[in-house]
Amino acid sequence: MNIDNLSPEFIGLTEEKYKAILNLATPSYVIDEERLIDNGKILKSVREKCGVKILLAQKAFSNFATYKTLSKYIDGTEASGLYEARLGFEEMNEKECHVFCAAYREDEFDELLKYADHITFNSPLQLKKFGARAKAKGKSIGLRINPEFSTQLNAGIYNPCAALSRLGSTKEIWDKYMTDDLISMLDGIHFHTLCEQNSDSLKLTLNAVEEKFGKYFSNLKWINFGGGHHITKKNYDIDTFCDCVLYISKKYNVQVYIEPGEAVALNAGYLVSEVLDIVENDGNYIAILDMSAACHTPDVLEMPYRPSIMNAYRENEKKYTYRLGCPTCLAGDIIGDYSFEEKLQIKDKLLLGDMAIYSTCKNNSFNGMKLPNIYLLKKDGSVNTLAKFGYKDFKYRLGN
Ligand SMILES: Cc1ncc(COP(=O)(O)O)c(C=O)c1O
Repeated sequence: MNIDNLSPEFIGLTEEKYKAILNLATPSYVIDEERLIDNGKILKSVREKCGVKILLAQKAFSNFATYKTLSKYIDGTEASGLYEARLGFEEMNEKECHVFCAAYREDEFDELLKYADHITFNSPLQLKKFGARAKAKGKSIGLRINPEFSTQLNAGIYNPCAALSRLGSTKEIWDKYMTDDLISMLDGIHFHTLCEQNSDSLKLTLNAVEEKFGKYFSNLKWINFGGGHHITKKNYDIDTFCDCVLYISKKYNVQVYIEPGEAVALNAGYLVSEVLDIVENDGNYIAILDMSAACHTPDVLEMPYRPSIMNAYRENEKKYTYRLGCPTCLAGDIIGDYSFEEKLQIKDKLLLGDMAIYSTCKNNSFNGMKLPNIYLLKKDGSVNTLAKFGYKDFKYRLGN
C-alpha cells in the first residue's frame, strides 16, 4: 500500500486498517466509520452555515448500525416506501422521517402513517387519494414536481426529467389537476433532478423550478431540493449551495431540505475480493475475482463506471494489465481493465473503493453468488461484524 499515492477513495486508510481489511474473508463490504464521520462533519457545517436540513436517502446507504453515529450530524432519513420509512423511524434516533414514493399502496398506507412525518406524493391523483388521511394524522405533506430541466450528462436512466418521466408533476399536470383544494393541502414541494453534481447545477435548476412553480412557494412550509448534491466531494462549491438555500428560504420563508444519499457515505466503504483464477485470451490476461459486478456492485454495470482499486492503475499505465472479471455466467460481468506494478497472483486480494453507496442495499444473489459479509471498520481500527450471509439467505429469497 502506497500511502503517499492514495486516491480519494482510500484517503485516511492507514496501513493497520488496510491489513485488518485484507484479513477478512472475501468477498466482504467494509464500512469505514471514520470516513462517515468526516462526511458527517462537512454536512453538519453546511447545515450550520445556511440552515438547510439534511436527510439521509436510505436507497443509497442504509446500514443502520451507523445511524446512531450519523444522527449527530444530520436531521433524519428519507425513504422510498414503507420498509425504508420503518427503518429510518426505528433506527435514526427519533429524527425526522420523510418518504417519497412514485405511488403508495392502499394496503400499506396506514402503516406508513405510523412512521413517516413528511409524506411527498408524486401526482395530484395520489395527493387526492391519500392527502386528507395523512393530514388527519398530522403529517406534513408535499408534492414532487418535475421542472423539466436537467443539467445531467448521464444516460436517461438517472434523469428524472427525461421525456416521458413518471417522476414528479410537470407544470402542465399541475395546471390541469391541482385544484385550489389540493394546493391548499400542500405544506411542501419536492424536486429531485441532480446526480453527483456541483452547486452550479443546483443554481440553474432552481431558476427553472422557481420560474415554473415559484408563485406557490409563499404558502409552503418547506421545499426539498432532493438528492444528487455532491457536497462531501473535494471541490464542491459549498458557498454557492448555501447561497441557493438562503435565497429560497429567505425569499419564501420556507425550510429547505436536501436528501443526499451518495454525499453521506461517499468514499466511506470498500469491497475486498480475492483473485480466484487468471485466464488468457488472445494474449490478454483476465483475472477472475470472487465478487460479481452484476451482483455486488450493480452500478458498475448500470451507470456504468470504473471503480477505483487500491494499487491499481489505468490499463497499460503499469507493466501488467488485466481485465478484472467475475465468476457469473453473464459475459459482461466485468469490472474493468487495470494495470499493476506486479503480476497478479491467485489468492491476491483487491480492494475496491467507494463501495458503501448503492452496494449493500442494492445487491443480489444472481447465479447463486454469495452475498458479501458486511463489516464496520471502527475509528479505532477494530472491526465489527454487521452481517454474515450464507446459503440460507440465498435459498429463503426463493421460497421458504
Ligand atoms: C427522490 C430521490 N432523493 C434522493 C436521492 C439520492 O440521490 P444521491 O444518492 O445521488 O444523493 C435519489 C436518488 O435516486 C432520489 O431518487
